[in-house]
Amino acid sequence: MCGIVGYIGDQQAESILLTGLKRLEYRGYDSAGLAIVGDDGLVVEKRKGKVDELRSAVNGQPLRGTLGVGHTRWATHGPPTDENAHPHTSVTGEFALVHNGIIENHGVIRQRLSEKGYTFESDTDTEVLVHLIDDIRAETDLSLEEAIRQALTQVVGTYGIAVVSSVNDKLIAARKGSPLILGIGDGEYFIGSDAAPLVEHTRQVVYLSDGEIVTVSRSGYEVKTVENVPLEKEVHELEWDLGEIEKSGYDHFMLKEIMEQPTSLSDSMRGRLLPEDPRVVLGGLHTVWDQLVDADRIIIAACGTSWHSALVGEYLIESFARIPVEVEYASEFRYRNPILRDGDVVVVISQSGETADTLAAVREARKKGVLCLGICNVVGSTIARETDAGVYLHAGPEIGVASTKAFTAQVTVLAMIALKLAENRTLSTGEMAHNLHALASIPDKVDEVLDMNDEIREMASVYRYASNFLYLGRGYNFPVALEGALKLKEISYIHAEGYPAAEMKHGPIALIDRFMPVVFIAMKDSTYDKVVSNIEEVVARDGSVIAITDEGNGELDKLCEYVLRIPKTEEFLSPLLTVVPLQLLSYHIAVMRGCHVDQPRNLAKSVTVE
Ligand code: AGP
Repeated sequence: MCGIVGYIGDQQAESILLTGLKRLEYRGYDSAGLAIVGDDGLVVEKRKGKVDELRSAVNGQPLRGTLGVGHTRWATHGPPTDENAHPHTSVTGEFALVHNGIIENHGVIRQRLSEKGYTFESDTDTEVLVHLIDDIRAETDLSLEEAIRQALTQVVGTYGIAVVSSVNDKLIAARKGSPLILGIGDGEYFIGSDAAPLVEHTRQVVYLSDGEIVTVSRSGYEVKTVENVPLEKEVHELEWDLGEIEKSGYDHFMLKEIMEQPTSLSDSMRGRLLPEDPRVVLGGLHTVWDQLVDADRIIIAACGTSWHSALVGEYLIESFARIPVEVEYASEFRYRNPILRDGDVVVVISQSGETADTLAAVREARKKGVLCLGICNVVGSTIARETDAGVYLHAGPEIGVASTKAFTAQVTVLAMIALKLAENRTLSTGEMAHNLHALASIPDKVDEVLDMNDEIREMASVYRYASNFLYLGRGYNFPVALEGALKLKEISYIHAEGYPAAEMKHGPIALIDRFMPVVFIAMKDSTYDKVVSNIEEVVARDGSVIAITDEGNGELDKLCEYVLRIPKTEEFLSPLLTVVPLQLLSYHIAVMRGCHVDQPRNLAKSVTVE
């Protein structure tokens, strides 16, 4: 949720940390802060607001020192204020700590410490951890590292923390529930909540797992468990390069990522989709494929946009593989004590691979002994490392908080899984070849849809003042209606709802009047005639209709304000095309409303707390 960065080496830490925080800002942008150890001892600067505000605050008086930590915040406990910003400093001023996560038992500890005379400058749960370490130091002669370990055994909740102090010239970091990566440079070391602040400095990384603490000095690092057991950790090579996490000339990461979809889709198919053979190769599932083929039931758990792709996955796998599929909100699945039996397979979908509720669904499935597979974008993410097997999207870094190219890559991977399951099951070789060729032609068709960008921008200018929107679709495009509504909500702050088109008559139709734009996905597929009747029902109540349909279809012109005609494709692949105009519509409306498209208010790219 929050972003943490740390540095120890020969270079001045301030600019490395500020640049790192800027790259992590999609994880939270309520406040930002630095703690740097130099000749003047430990110096802390923190501000409410974005990293740029912190940068201008320290510009006047740079913080000198080659050891430091930084933090960008997504507020959980206490509003975005200077006081609640991280780092939080010990009463002695000896050390400073940044934290990503939630200390659930902060109330009890705060009470105990207050009775011992500790006072608190902030409302945060994090400051409680700082003073708990203080107290252990005061009561014992333990080193800072040992006091931190002891304190961490007393807290309940999740944490990714990094600590620097003016006395031991070390960078100490630990994780439980929140991601943390150590970057190994040439005589220097970096800590990051994800790879974004590390890529420009090193490709050599160590992924910390839950319950691990790393102590980094100028000459090396040591990883131990919080129970003080030394560990040998594997060093991994980062895949992404710096260019991929830059805007490359686009105004926003979201627009860049929408426009990248022909490439990201080709990358997610490369080496996997072999229409000529015809077959699908999913190396990451090779060891468990037979279990998937023989599955009695597949349960897909996810959150947000990933949950929408899971719904498309349900349609795909049930219609092609005839295996029953259930789609679950991960946050509900984990607490519902789900009934999982032999023969069940749990699949989780997560772009970031760090979403707390989805990670908990993985642990629930594993606890119950059923096979758990992952579909993730971030290589080396916690969910990717904790699932039994899985498929990477290969969509490249997704920085914009509103997920776009990850959605289409997720649907593509689900389509490949469904088609592979259908091979010699429900599909003949000829049908297999036909469907694989159809999938292979999608990147070019998405390119054609992207050529409608200007037309969609013009349409957006008409609807930018709307205060409500309704999105309606049937079958494979019902989840796309949900996704379109979510995109508009999260970046333009317009209230929008998505529904199965038929469901409209059971309530939402009451909302229809001439001020209610209604977006219909009306591709000429098995549901087309029914969708047209729904359009007529809305028009009969003066609703303003935008329809997405096949190129060459003029039947809707008389009924609709706007008709967007997109290339034809197979019905099961249409979500990969129909979602793109909805991504662009929400993008342009948000830009015209002056919203911060890449960092919408109150949101963050990966939700690592419950
Ligand atoms: C989508 O635009 C949002 N950023 C959000 O709903 C997101 O899809 C959700 O938090 C799940 O994230 P994940 O795929 O990284 O697990």
